[in-house]
Amino acid sequence: MGMIAQAVRDPGYFGGEDHVAVQRRAHRLWPFLQHDPRLCNAGRNINSSGPSLEDADDFAALAHELGFLGNEFLEDAIKDSYVAAMEDRGLKVAQFNMLVSDNETREHSQRILADRPLPGGFRIVEIGRDSDPAQVQSFQWLNDECGVATLPGYVLRGDSMPVVASLMLDCNGEPAATAGCVARHPPGSRFAGSVWTGLLATRPDLRGQGLARIIFAHANLAAYERLGATLLYAGVRPGNEPSQAACRAAGLGSSNWWLVGATSPGRFAGEFTR
Ligand SMILES: CC(C)(COP(=O)(O)OP(=O)(O)OC[C@H]1O[C@@H](n2cnc3c(N)ncnc32)[C@H](O)[C@@H]1OP(=O)(O)O)[C@@H](O)C(=O)NCCC(=O)NCCS
Repeated sequence: MGMIAQAVRDPGYFGGEDHVAVQRRAHRLWPFLQHDPRLCNAGRNINSSGPSLEDADDFAALAHELGFLGNEFLEDAIKDSYVAAMEDRGLKVAQFNMLVSDNETREHSQRILADRPLPGGFRIVEIGRDSDPAQVQSFQWLNDECGVATLPGYVLRGDSMPVVASLMLDCNGEPAATAGCVARHPPGSRFAGSVWTGLLATRPDLRGQGLARIIFAHANLAAYERLGATLLYAGVRPGNEPSQAACRAAGLGSSNWWLVGATSPGRFAGEFTR
């Protein structure tokens, strides 16, 4: 695609007004932030990766500018102090456990795909550069329906960084389940090779039939094979039992890291819960 066509392509922001505002700010400010190795573009927002307590001033200021800043790979040993530092600077904090892969997760995903056929007429498609915009929106719509903060279209299509966005369609071609993996740490970052996995959603009327297990395995395996993942990680809010269970069923386990979301109450009235 030519540069001009790419420049005018619809970025495909999606969700409520507040979420769209955060997606737009992240998109617009990323060119100014991208050379800071402490940061990554998570698409729906900007994240810090492996922050230290010395970073708290910078990152609190950034959170106020953006409305929301995620902080991932936050070490357990400094988590409480970091949270207090964010709260002292006027930010509202939400904490997520980071669940991570181990050296059996890849084979585990292969086994799931080999052992569990899709229901008759169901199929999995992947979002890509040339996907029909309606299919990209189906992915985003299903995330939204399930309370999952989705990614803007430009990220789902892989325009900004390597991603896998797997969409399961039912026998009528309607969206049934989603999962996605994003290689959001640039080469050279100390977290390069670590790939975020999430966007897990199953349409409410199809839950409890093993569809999340299949779509998650599909996306995770593609992340190993095509994104060169050396570690997969997910953020799960304590108390989200279905999500915890789905992650464990996918072969992700506990870690000593946290993901802490910092919201500027005056700039972002929404919430990232999933
Ligand atoms: C989480 C979610 C995707 C699970 O979808 P699903 O298709 O019903 O899940 P599956 O049937 O494939 O089950 C996967 C595993 O989770 C377990 N699980 C599913 N729903 C569960 C529930 N409500 N409580 C406890 N465990 C549950 C299953 O037992 C299974 O584990 P097993 O294979 O070891 O038995 C679905 O509940 C959902 O869309 N929730 C809302 C969005 C969300 O929270 N997404 C997670 C974002 S981090």
